[in-house]
Amino acid sequence: MEATAELEAKVKQRPLPRHLGIIMDGNGRWAESKGRPRLEGHREGSTSVREITRCARRLGIKALTLYAFSAQNWSRPSEEVAGLMELLREYLFKERREILDNGIRLHAIGDLDKLPGLVRDPLDELRDVSADNRDMVLTLALSYGGREELLQAAKGLAEMMLRGEVTGHPTEAQFESLLWTQGLPPVDLIIRTSGEHRVSNFLLWQGAYAEYVFVDTLWPDFRAPQLLDALQVYQARERRFGLTGEQVKAAAS
Ligand code: IPE
Ligand code: IPE
Ligand code: MG
Repeated sequence: MEATAELEAKVKQRPLPRHLGIIMDGNGRWAESKGRPRLEGHREGSTSVREITRCARRLGIKALTLYAFSAQNWSRPSEEVAGLMELLREYLFKERREILDNGIRLHAIGDLDKLPGLVRDPLDELRDVSADNRDMVLTLALSYGGREELLQAAKGLAEMMLRGEVTGHPTEAQFESLLWTQGLPPVDLIIRTSGEHRVSNFLLWQGAYAEYVFVDTLWPDFRAPQLLDALQVYQARERRFGLTGEQVKAAAS
């Protein structure tokens, strides 16, 4: 524990991502490795969500986006989908106090109309009551797909052009204003757990210049020490944004 506190202090001294995204993967394999039903992995995973949110908040990370349920996850067996929806509801009730007490604004991105009322209602309520909180924005990506997000933004832009609200060549800013992540800073770091090296439709536009850190740890085992390790990997990277290393060093000095 002491070691974690020390590491936390060290990580805090160096530049942190303004916006951290996490692809929380490996719940099913965690449960299967223990001979338990997949849903138990998802349940244990919600403890990781709590611990990672707390740690990110302590570190002063301003935006945390958690990939909790993808547009494609609707095609999983119906019992697993139903169990995940129940867990989400439970999460929203259990974390309500902690979110409000810690100045966290809860936000959600995705095709939220697809969510059942049992999730949508507490989600809307918590989004409303936490709307003025400014210390951190916690975004849940639910029924989320990057392609789906880009397609709806492209449709929105086409409609605006037809109505004459956008004239000439649309700008990046105009397009971004139609994304579900509108108002959030660009994502600096995306962590994916469970040893898979893919993006799985997460923040396709927003991650254009993100650093990626892939770790083998399964999500239910990913806690504060593992987050701090991943942040140290990020802090050792040089982000060049298309420039040369020399240019980056000159700009920093
Ligand atoms: C991530 O864990 C949670 C969701 C995608 C909802 P998985 O359920 O994908 O776990 P694995 O990848 O099958 O182990
Ligand atoms: C990505 O994980 C979605 C979430 C973490 C919510 P998946 O387990 O659904 O992704 P694939 O199937 O391995 O690409
Ligand atoms: Mg998975």
